[in-house]
Amino acid sequence: MLYDTQGPFRTMVDENTGQVDRSIFADQAIYEVELERIFARAWNFMCHETQIPKAGDFFLSFIGEESVIATRDKKGELQVLLNSCRHRGNAVCRAEEGNARSFLCTYHGWTYGLDGQLIGVPGYKDFYHEQLDKSQWGLVKAGKVASYKGFVFATMDSEAPDLEEYLGPVGRMSIDLIAERGDMEIVGGVQKNLIGCNWKLAVDNLFDFYHPQISHASAFMSGFRKQLEGVDAAEQAIVEKAEINGGIRNAHRVVLGKYGHAIGGPRLTKEVREARALLGPRFEVLTNDNFRMTDSAQEALGEIGLDVNGHPNIFPNLWVATNGHQLSLRLPKGPDKCEIWWFAFVPKEAPDWKKAELIERSIHVFGAAGLLEQDDGENWDQSTRAMKGVIAKRYPLNFSMGLKHGVVNHAEGDLHYIDTTTNEHAQLWTYRGWAEWMDAESWGQLKQISVEHPGDLV
Ligand code: FES
Ligand SMILES: [Fe+2]
Repeated sequence: MLYDTQGPFRTMVDENTGQVDRSIFADQAIYEVELERIFARAWNFMCHETQIPKAGDFFLSFIGEESVIATRDKKGELQVLLNSCRHRGNAVCRAEEGNARSFLCTYHGWTYGLDGQLIGVPGYKDFYHEQLDKSQWGLVKAGKVASYKGFVFATMDSEAPDLEEYLGPVGRMSIDLIAERGDMEIVGGVQKNLIGCNWKLAVDNLFDFYHPQISHASAFMSGFRKQLEGVDAAEQAIVEKAEINGGIRNAHRVVLGKYGHAIGGPRLTKEVREARALLGPRFEVLTNDNFRMTDSAQEALGEIGLDVNGHPNIFPNLWVATNGHQLSLRLPKGPDKCEIWWFAFVPKEAPDWKKAELIERSIHVFGAAGLLEQDDGENWDQSTRAMKGVIAKRYPLNFSMGLKHGVVNHAEGDLHYIDTTTNEHAQLWTYRGWAEWMDAESWGQLKQISVEHPGDLV
């Protein structure tokens, strides 16, 4: 069904001209609607199952600005619980991760089981006269919790579609691009840093292949991309030749799905994949793409997904950074603050040298110490400051690159993609999806008004 109403938020994103109202990046009232209509409703990424393998293991995450505990109960079931005591609201879990038998509130001692049940109340007999119905005062639980190939998500809204349906082919392809690299395990610890920017600018940037040549010029000049020892110039030349033949330097593929999910960025053609595969495992750490030669990856990704080498965003805020075996959350902390989280993965069976190399890359590129995100964060901070200006807000932002030049291919498996050059299709699609989420008053309405896929030309 086509989106035919002009809700108040829909008017802020003009898909015909590519103009987006600046107030969506600065306005406190709009931000509060986002917390309610996007984050409290969406499937939010919590953690990877390897972070909480045993009963009692827990990991603290966020839904919007609210702390939640992702844990595994005694039966081994995944649980996501709001980290707020039902008595006076205190946090019942202060550690970022660990193992617990129960969650004891440090204020007055109410105690909750791993499934959120209220199991202990000091003074239950003497002070409450046994009249407190403990079954009604457990921790608030997520409406739905589910895992896709080990990646755990939760939604607070039980009206939400099931996870696989929510992810759709674009969201599933996004996760497959990491999950199909082998039996993945998470590297201990999550890099976290706060940037003075609106969360949507950080999401927008992950699709942005227009900025690297300018923003990251100094990083490229510094030679920050490590060349692996043993890969000689002749070997690299084979790959470069294939890249030039395949025209992938400027060939991009954008895949767009329901609910605002999108993938945008360079392609990786069959010719280049094959040239890289010839170089063997040493080169694979630099490119991370030989997994595409496996039967399992070919089946999961299909012909369209195998060519995807760009960046996926699972709406609203999960960047699957496929080149680096990483996931990043762009957590909102107010209209002008965003906490960036970086999770890094390694294949369990990989040799130690490869794990070490992957971890080094994870630290070196993105995150607080990463050369690229230091450049990016500075730009987003300055953009966000300017969005607040009463004068600046009168002038929209421009997302018109490639507009009306994006010929959409509609393929089997409900996949809709554009093969093109550097463009802003994925960003505009994300903002369009944002407006749908913001205008919809319920999941029921969102399911109705969210466009299934783009038309023939975007
Ligand atoms: S606030 Fe938790 S027991 Fe009182
Ligand atoms: Fe960047």
